[in-house]
Amino acid sequence: MHFRLFILFFLILGCSSKNKKPEIKIGFSQCVSDDEWRKEMNNEIFTEADLIVSHDVNILYKDAKADNSLQIKQVEELVSEGIDVLMISPNESEPLTSIVESVKAKGIPVVVIDRRITSDKFDAFVGGNNLSVGRLAGEMSIDLLYDLNIESPNILSITGLEGSSPAQERQRGFEDALKENNLTTQVVKSDWKKGTARKLLDSISRTNYGFYDLIFAHNDEMASSASDVFYSSTKKPIIIGVDGLSTKGGGLEMVINNKINGTISYPPSGAKALRLAFDLALGKSVNKYNYENTFRVDNRNANTLYNEALRVRDQQEKLKSLIGNYDTLSIDIEEKNEVILWISILSGLLFVSAWLSVYFIYQKNRANKLLRTKQEVINHQNTEISQNRDQLVSALKQMEEMSEMKTQFFSNISHEFKNLLALMSLDIDKVIADSSTKSRLSRYLSMINSNLNRLLTYKNLDSDAYPVELKYGDLSETINEVAENFKLSVDAKKLKFNVETSSVFTDYDADAIQKVLSNLISNAIKYTVKGNISIKLFEENESIFITISDTGIGIPKNEQSKIFDRHKRSSLSGEDKDSFGIGLHFCKSLINLMNGKITVESELNKGSKFTISLPKKNKNEIPQKTTFTEIDEDKSTVFIAEDNPHILARVVQILEADYNVIYANNGTDAYKLINYHHPDMVISDILMPGMDGIQLCQKLFENPATINIPVLLLSAVQGDDIRTQGYQTGADSFLSKPFSSDTLLARVENLIKKSAKAKTSSKFAVSVTSKSEEDQKFLTDISDYLYTHISDYNFKIEDLLKEIGMSRSKFYRKLKGLTKLSPNDYIRKLRLDYASQIIIKADFSVAEVAYKVGFSDVKYFSKIFKKEFGVTPTEYREKYTN
Ligand code: FRU
Repeated sequence: MHFRLFILFFLILGCSSKNKKPEIKIGFSQCVSDDEWRKEMNNEIFTEADLIVSHDVNILYKDAKADNSLQIKQVEELVSEGIDVLMISPNESEPLTSIVESVKAKGIPVVVIDRRITSDKFDAFVGGNNLSVGRLAGEMSIDLLYDLNIESPNILSITGLEGSSPAQERQRGFEDALKENNLTTQVVKSDWKKGTARKLLDSISRTNYGFYDLIFAHNDEMASSASDVFYSSTKKPIIIGVDGLSTKGGGLEMVINNKINGTISYPPSGAKALRLAFDLALGKSVNKYNYENTFRVDNRNANTLYNEALRVRDQQEKLKSLIGNYDTLSIDIEEKNEVILWISILSGLLFVSAWLSVYFIYQKNRANKLLRTKQEVINHQNTEISQNRDQLVSALKQMEEMSEMKTQFFSNISHEFKNLLALMSLDIDKVIADSSTKSRLSRYLSMINSNLNRLLTYKNLDSDAYPVELKYGDLSETINEVAENFKLSVDAKKLKFNVETSSVFTDYDADAIQKVLSNLISNAIKYTVKGNISIKLFEENESIFITISDTGIGIPKNEQSKIFDRHKRSSLSGEDKDSFGIGLHFCKSLINLMNGKITVESELNKGSKFTISLPKKNKNEIPQKTTFTEIDEDKSTVFIAEDNPHILARVVQILEADYNVIYANNGTDAYKLINYHHPDMVISDILMPGMDGIQLCQKLFENPATINIPVLLLSAVQGDDIRTQGYQTGADSFLSKPFSSDTLLARVENLIKKSAKAKTSSKFAVSVTSKSEEDQKFLTDISDYLYTHISDYNFKIEDLLKEIGMSRSKFYRKLKGLTKLSPNDYIRKLRLDYASQIIIKADFSVAEVAYKVGFSDVKYFSKIFKKEFGVTPTEYREKYTN
């Protein structure tokens, strides 16, 4: 298509370019040009050339200034310029002959004008017959002398340049004519020039004044000088010249004005010479000798000739102006041609650009259309996705709200029940104690009381799932309220009840405090027979302390450390085994959730003192990160990311016996803490403030340091969409809320096993062991840096050294010491280790995995992977995922 366009473009160019006429180069060597006759000749030549319209006649003109050597040189120059034909009017015959012959020998046609050379090796001659001219001048002289009746006249010839043929021939013809009449002439040799003639004649006139009856000058210029010299002489000689030009001051005018007596008409021959040259250039044959008419001019025909010449001159002028017009016309046409050419070029370009524009617009529109269609599809999908997501979120919210409402409802009910049941139980105890005999009623009451206590325990268990919600307020108010509830019971047992509180404002969960205190006070009442029960609230060193002391039976020393454990029970609690242990465990959990601590001091038979310490806070905050217990190195660690305190408490409760539990209530903190603690697995809620569970999952997956940590996502509803999304971002398992503790434990156990398997699969992970805190930091800094550049296959160790500010040798020594690996091997192992984790974790192709860990050559990657792990990447995936 483009090729065709180019052809078309150049065709247009071709059509519009100028119609070039064939060029003919004519060299013209003029011997001299400072006289009117020569100017006339030149004029005729150029005019005639202009009249040729079939060709572009280009005249290369040279003026030799009457200098033979210069003329030879100029001819050579013309030849070298590549002329088609040479026109020459040689200055002198002899000196110019050989150059003319050589030009002819080169095959360049030669036209000789006016003056001859000494050979005939030229193609054409044009000019007057100078013998005739001389003879005519002689005859005219005789006639004029005859009229004057001078018998032996003194005749003087003043000649042209001696070596030029016209001078020689004119003189000969003149003398011939005189001779026939027995006359002779004296000769003064001049050079055709007016000035030279003037000088010569001046000197002659001074010596031979009035002596000459007739002077024949070889041209009118010199005749004019003769006239000037002899003008004032008493006996003015008859003066005859040659040329007879009609120009101003020319021969005709001089004859008419009687300045001279006669002249011989000698046409300059320019027009004829040019025609001959043109024909020769075209290869035409021409006459070799072309003589002009020459004739006598005297006062009888001078006027007529002059008028005729004027008419001819007039015609010539008209012709010139016509030629001028033609030239303008030609220039005009040329200009037009040029305009047409440019228009054609521009049209061509325009056409091409228009075509290209149309083509590009078409392509653009097509692309736009495609894009629009794609965008529409994407928009549609996006709308659907966001609608689904919105629906999902609102459904989840609704469910959570409902669940919270339910929880709150049951919490309230249970709380009320618990208090009432506790009071009822105490009352029944009192009735039993009062009844002197073990009556049937008393046995029934004992049974009822036992069942009541079981109910109390049951309610306590249920309330474990309830969260802490910190609110700013006066802690003493809550304590006094709780204490008030037990007043009757304490009175009933005739115990002293000291409650010492003063206002303490802090963030605390009133409900949790109520639960804990109720539990502790009811225990205190239960296990105290006599004495007192004291409750104190005080502040010390930015901490708040609540103490509940009794003078009861006390707790044996060996059991004191275990009483807060869930499954431990006091050996002294008799039949009410469950109520004691589980209650205290629950108390500890609640206090921990408020970032507090609970401790016990006790002496058998003297009593117990429970001390609750709480941090004094004035900010309403859910604890950001905490563990429930000290990290036990023998246990696996589970990280929980959950913003809902209810669910958090529930999960913690289920897991804490078997695992170290760390948690955060938002995704952002969770990510930081997971990176710090490197837990064995993560349990995360999906909906969380800031970074949600899916995003957390994604970040953990993208980080080589955390990719191998299994993630269990908790979702409120069973939805395929959210699960798909979760699995795509690296989640390992899902659990729908509500879930049973068994299911959660089973899932956690499985995932931790999987994590351990993945860890042992990584040679790298096990190779870096036993290190100090400083070494750990060194390795962490390196791996952090390397992990962020792991996909960069142009990675340079120098960049890493700059980052950690360490010399190469020191770095090498330290790394080798810790890992037994050189930096390059270390980096390669790290890449391969990461690759092994990605392979297990996600469904990437081997090439994708290679690129992700900074290998540009997939074959090489597979090769060294096999070397490292003994199996190919694909085999590795099968091995560890099935
Ligand atoms: C001009 C001229 C003419 C003469 C011719 C002869 O230069 O002297 O006057 O007729 O040359 O060559």
